[in-house]
Amino acid sequence: MKLDDVSADLEEVLLTEDQIHERLAELSRQIEKDYEGETPLLVGVLKGAVMVMADLAKELRMPIEMDWMAVSSYGSGTQSSGVVRILKDLDTDLIGRRVLIVEDIIDSGLTLSWLLANLRSRGAKSVDILALLRKPDAAKVDVEVKYVGFEIPSRFVVGYGLDYAERYRNLRGVAVLAPHVYA
Ligand code: IMP
Ligand code: MG
Repeated sequence: MKLDDVSADLEEVLLTEDQIHERLAELSRQIEKDYEGETPLLVGVLKGAVMVMADLAKELRMPIEMDWMAVSSYGSGTQSSGVVRILKDLDTDLIGRRVLIVEDIIDSGLTLSWLLANLRSRGAKSVDILALLRKPDAAKVDVEVKYVGFEIPSRFVVGYGLDYAERYRNLRGVAVLAPHVYA
């Protein structure tokens, strides 16, 4: 779905698909250097990270493995609850692996800080984070994110994997949702 297809629902376009792809290519060159000679395990956080994972994985010029976790922190609203629950766990044994968590967005940081501790406790050689978007104003928890795509303002955004009540994930870009949609 193109940004134009739902322009009435969007207040402001923050990122086009081209800008996202360009940034993912830059981050990929860094990742190729940082994991040279190794096969990192990319752990995507469902469902928001699906688009980032797909485009990043295709851009990387090195072998990788992919696995997925589903955790819940948001309901269908726009506020982080801080409550993290595993809905789907990994299939992969992390012992000795170099793990890169792939996330759509870091808002309060509660989800990622919990996930980082959880995966580190499983015997991985390293666990790092890539987040396409970061909202710095909302940081309640100090989480080190090794690869950040873009810093964005603390507003509710949709698209490129990010949803509002499960909609807009298939949008080719990231935009601020117009308040009338959730009012
Ligand atoms: P955190 O725990 O507050 O960092 O939020 C983590 C999760 O909340 C993300 O992985 C997203 O799924 C969701 N989230 C945070 N901000 C937004 C947003 O602006 N739009 C849609 N989902 C969001
Ligand atoms: Mg998410």
